[in-house]
Amino acid sequence: MADICHGQPLIRKSKRYHLGLNPFLQLCLLKNFRDPKNIMILICASWTTNLERVFLVERRMAEHKMKHPEERIISLGVSETSKPLPEFITSAMAMKSLTLSTLDGNSVYGARRVEEQLRAEIASKIYGDLGIENDDIFISDGTLCDISRLQAYVDLGVIMGQSGEFQSDLKKFKNIKYMKCTPENDFFADLSTISPADLIFYCSPNNPTGAAATKEQLMGLVQFAKDNGSIIIHDATYSMYISDDSPRSIFEIPGAKEVAIETSSFSKTAGFSRIRLGWTVVPKELLYSDGFPIAKDFKRISNTCFSGASIIAQVGGLACLSPKGWKATQDIIQSYKNNTKLIVDTFNSLGFKVYGGKNAPFVWVQFPGRSSWDVFDEILEKIHVSVTPGSGFGPTGEGFIRVAALNQEADVLEACERFKQLFKSTRAYN
Ligand SMILES: Cc1ncc(COP(=O)(O)O)c(C=O)c1O
Repeated sequence: MADICHGQPLIRKSKRYHLGLNPFLQLCLLKNFRDPKNIMILICASWTTNLERVFLVERRMAEHKMKHPEERIISLGVSETSKPLPEFITSAMAMKSLTLSTLDGNSVYGARRVEEQLRAEIASKIYGDLGIENDDIFISDGTLCDISRLQAYVDLGVIMGQSGEFQSDLKKFKNIKYMKCTPENDFFADLSTISPADLIFYCSPNNPTGAAATKEQLMGLVQFAKDNGSIIIHDATYSMYISDDSPRSIFEIPGAKEVAIETSSFSKTAGFSRIRLGWTVVPKELLYSDGFPIAKDFKRISNTCFSGASIIAQVGGLACLSPKGWKATQDIIQSYKNNTKLIVDTFNSLGFKVYGGKNAPFVWVQFPGRSSWDVFDEILEKIHVSVTPGSGFGPTGEGFIRVAALNQEADVLEACERFKQLFKSTRAYN
């Protein structure tokens, strides 16, 4: 396919062309339009309306603090971990920092060796016998960063305006197809009703609903991608929270390597949100329709847009994957899971319909007939607890709130007591 020719009309058409991408980079990116159909499906909506939701929640919390300076607000609204990192992990990073003052410690060769080691550890510890090889793994500075690069790389959709304008009334981008994931469909869309797409963004375990896809559901998704020539971009950031037999990686599904890219990180597993370390798996088996390996292009684009993860973060990542680190991070995850259970039990005892919580640190609580923002306001106003309004994640979230369990145990305990006080007289909600 004449790739660049294919791309050029898109450059001219795009209203966002002038917004700062350098023309050389654009041509590199446009070379990747091998099969453009201009449609994307987005299942996990938490990326799209992120800024608006975060901004509004933070503004309301700041206003509330001004109004009630004497009250202690507990935030169960953020998806950020709160526990300090185990000291031997921070020590490993500190030691590495010091070696950067030596010739050997600061060598390019040394940095490459660390990255190689990290790929090998991720391949064996996270993917075990799933057949993911070291060179299928690209080390990054986190899931969101790689998802942004992937959008630029495969479709350019959001950057170039292909996703269409954001429709404020519907809270949707015009050219993105949203999959409805609700209790009625067990938080997994009916694929027989979905039109074909270039890209399928899917996040399991899911933020915000807390639902994890079953093996059968993921098999259906992989088959759908095969039938339609789509690429699945699977966000497995919360996979370490899975307690049942739901797949932790899409590559547990036979044939997934031919249709899927998986991205994940140390942010929620090891509390690395501010250190920044993640990875993306682009299997060799994933090819464009003309047989060209997508991994080759991903490497080129990734090297163009990104100069590599911090060496200090990578040494921290290796410490997390050591036997001692693995045990420590599992213990921390378990404590967040204990918080989750407490939140689930609290809302259950109050008579609410509660979803998620089992395989993710999020509890999705239903308030039938009520606006999510009204519930958010009531909870903040009356008991000084901040949650997240479900509609901030997209229209299907209306009538829900997300309660995150990544806070300290004592705060979660106190918040649950406050929920009981607030809702004890409203058991008839459902
Ligand atoms: C679904 C999902 N993916 C990715 C991220 C961010 O991951 P990272 O810190 O690796 O960019 C978040 C953060 O809240 C998330 O909820």
